[in-house]
Amino acid sequence: ADPEVSRDLARKMLLVGDNGEDLKLEYLKILIDGQLPPRSPRKKVLVVGAGVAGLTVAGLLKRAGHEVVVIEANGNRVGGRVKTFRGVFTDPALHAEAGAMRLPDFHPLVLALADQLKLKRRLFYNADVAPGAEPTGSTPPVVYQSFTGTQWRNGPDAPGFTAPAATNRTLIRVNGSATTRSRYASAPAAVNASFGVDSTQTTTAAVNQVLAPVTVPGGPIADQIDGWSKLLQKYDGYSTHRFLVEEAGWSLDQIQAAGTLENLTSRLHYSLIPTLMDHAAISPTGRYWELTGGTATLTDALAEPLRNDLRMGRRMTRLVQTAGGVRVETTAETGSESGFTGRPVAPTETFEGDYAIVTIPFSALRFCQVEPLMSYPKRRAVNELHYDSATKVLLEFRTRFWEQGAGGFTGGGCVSDSPSRFSYFPSHAPDGSKGGVVLAAYTWSDDAMRWDSLTDGERYAFALNDLEALFGPVVRREFTGTGATQSWARARYALGEAVVFTPGQLHELHAAGRTVEGRVHFAGEHTSLKPAWIEGALESAVRTFLEVHGRP
Ligand code: FAD
Ligand code: ARG
Repeated sequence: ADPEVSRDLARKMLLVGDNGEDLKLEYLKILIDGQLPPRSPRKKVLVVGAGVAGLTVAGLLKRAGHEVVVIEANGNRVGGRVKTFRGVFTDPALHAEAGAMRLPDFHPLVLALADQLKLKRRLFYNADVAPGAEPTGSTPPVVYQSFTGTQWRNGPDAPGFTAPAATNRTLIRVNGSATTRSRYASAPAAVNASFGVDSTQTTTAAVNQVLAPVTVPGGPIADQIDGWSKLLQKYDGYSTHRFLVEEAGWSLDQIQAAGTLENLTSRLHYSLIPTLMDHAAISPTGRYWELTGGTATLTDALAEPLRNDLRMGRRMTRLVQTAGGVRVETTAETGSESGFTGRPVAPTETFEGDYAIVTIPFSALRFCQVEPLMSYPKRRAVNELHYDSATKVLLEFRTRFWEQGAGGFTGGGCVSDSPSRFSYFPSHAPDGSKGGVVLAAYTWSDDAMRWDSLTDGERYAFALNDLEALFGPVVRREFTGTGATQSWARARYALGEAVVFTPGQLHELHAAGRTVEGRVHFAGEHTSLKPAWIEGALESAVRTFLEVHGRP
């Protein structure tokens, strides 16, 4: 790989600007503190897509004095891949996430935005805690420590905030027998042996150990840039599988054990780099937040000030640039993303503006006509960037049976080698309800595609079977008969979960994804180096706001 490209990627990943400034800090000041750059000539901007990126950039442009029109294909809701199932369960008090559910403590833009919009947040337990356990102290502010030495925060310290300790009572069921996480941690040999691995180390520890040499430590930003440049240059072309075999020297048995327990199996063919990013971002020891009313309260709140600027149910089919402006042609659509026949509904509406910001996934842009042709590198990025599959199957229960008894727990997740693979439990008791919704199956990549082939009813039936294998007959007794399921690969406005790079794609395609094409700018998680996270969509929104605002 070209070392210049590696270095550019490292700087983008660390959000180091052209003059060494900290872009994250700059973005926080703009998005949260409202420190907008000096006024610029008023422009009319067409924002395509009303997900996190589109709503955020449109809101910023509007605040900065520009005219915006937000064009959204979905006729029913804004939010895109932020989608909360509300009003679909038997108990109206219950809601659950079809898309984004956890907000890492080290994603300051999304957390500070939620605080600014006065949305309530509470802990999301990636690892289970004791039922009824509550954190002590009040919710801490969002703090961002910049590499420039400046500290950004959105409130005074909340000393004494402590999260409840993990109890690790959730289950591991592989190769025909079950145990708990804590039992596995204290005596790993038996589970390891069931994979043919002779080791007294947990797979969590094994993965940590093997990834340690390819982890860039904190420290001076120049060293971090160097570290990441070298890492990206060497390993972007490696699949995770190749790395584990060639660099780590792992046996097939070791790969299968860690793959199954640590959620690596379905991603072995992807580049090592997204695996490293996910490993850092999703950990049993990290702190995560969730929005009390559901993640969609974020996109609802972002849409509120834009209600007169939103054009829902209009799907961009053609994007034309002329010498003096841009034109977006849409087909009107009605109906839901699951039940609709796909038949375009007349009339076609055309929007004109000075500039466009396209925030729709490249997998969706693939089906739009763009005239004149965009640059070749951009077209390649649009056509080839890899989108992962992700599928969720949620089941509603009358009681939270998993919280009962000596082994009871709240939050966290069970892992198994069943098709369901990963099951997550609600982190909090819903207000005024004895019941709860379990994310019975959360799968990625090939694991997800298996579920995508099934009908909704089949998904509930198989997910119920898998949960019964973990908890016994109580599962079927307490099931209300209601479920909800979302396949992101089959969602017609998403066309995939999110970008996960295959080997080489970071170097070959990332930079082109975010370059400007004439009067057209590009935002969305896929144009960031935090793909598959809300934080990445927000970074891209502030970046494109500055790009467009700064134009003459
Ligand atoms: P989108 O939300 O996809 O917005 C694009 C919008 O464009 C959509 O509203 C779509 O309807 C619209 N559109 C599409 N085609 C057209 C067209 N032709 N014309 C007009 N409009 C169109 N992030 C986290 O931070 N934490 C998590 O826990 C987390 N978990 C996730 C789990 C899953 C299963 C998924 C799918 C994502 C998860 N994410 C998570 C990632 C997060 O949801 C996304 O990164 C983010 O929502 C993407 O926002 P976006 O604006 O880039 O794209
Ligand atoms: N952000 C999403 C989550 O928290 C997914 C991230 C990784 N996705 C993937 N296909 N590897 O669950």
